[in-house]
Amino acid sequence: MPHAAALATAMEGRNGRLRRAPAIYGKLARVSARVIDGRAVAAAVREEISAGVAAFREEHGRVPGLATVLIGEDEASAVYVASKHRACEQVGMRAIEHTLPKDVTREEAIALVERLNADPEVSGILVQLPLPGHLDESDVTNRIIPEKDVDGLTVESAGRLAIGLVGLRPCTPVGVMRLLREAGAQLDGAEAVILGRSNLFGKPMGRLLVEAHATMTICHSHTRDLASACRRADVLIAAVGRARLVQGDWIKPGAVVIDVGITRTEDGLVGDVDFDAALEVASAITPVPGGVGPMTIASLLQNTLQAALWTA
Ligand code: GUN
Repeated sequence: MPHAAALATAMEGRNGRLRRAPAIYGKLARVSARVIDGRAVAAAVREEISAGVAAFREEHGRVPGLATVLIGEDEASAVYVASKHRACEQVGMRAIEHTLPKDVTREEAIALVERLNADPEVSGILVQLPLPGHLDESDVTNRIIPEKDVDGLTVESAGRLAIGLVGLRPCTPVGVMRLLREAGAQLDGAEAVILGRSNLFGKPMGRLLVEAHATMTICHSHTRDLASACRRADVLIAAVGRARLVQGDWIKPGAVVIDVGITRTEDGLVGDVDFDAALEVASAITPVPGGVGPMTIASLLQNTLQAALWTA
């Protein structure tokens, strides 16, 4: 048992609540969770990918290529896409940028996706979301062939994950699984609770956890007693984008906490979890920023390399 978890267990009273530590032992009794360094794990993943890209180039005489499609002028999307391009170049992949005007027609957007599907230089295709309101996201993203669906967003990729077939999985859940592994989280038989039910994160995260033999609960805006659901979690994953929603007393002592949320506040960027409070209860926790974020991009690179190998 990790030191922090052992300490947390020792502090539990019979009713499962934390015992109030005698003042003299106040400092000693405080549990300090291990902070999971997403930047360091992502750097290790990028090194593995760089080696994979070099081997691919050796064998095929070209490098894997990631095509991004950015539609419209959403500033945050442009920043995300630029950082995905930088990451590709850092590992020796090619980034192929396509930008379309915000009033592009459905037919033009789909025609581009279909051209990219047929282009042998393109290993993976990423249509950055959100799309302008007149375009139906799933109508456009579902045109990506599953072999190049590096976001794992298409119906075919989601279905493959749902029934346990090989396929590309959404990047953030893949990144979280890697962080859980690095944190030494015991998933087999664990209670895992996810806050958020999006197609890009909550649902695929749940399926990956079940594949890893966890018992999984997905909570959302209609969940009746969120705090109680969270208190059951050995692994708690919050992805709702509500600053510091998860309080310290929602966390089971010794839990591993993964914070996927990121909100800009007057205090800077903060996650969905009250980090300082969680530090005293959890056994391990991801920081915001520097936790899950870097792993999303590392997983995108991993998916692009995988797609290149499948389509080579
Ligand atoms: N917008 C915000 N996150 C993502 C992502 O992971 N993939 C895509 N395609 N769009 C996004």
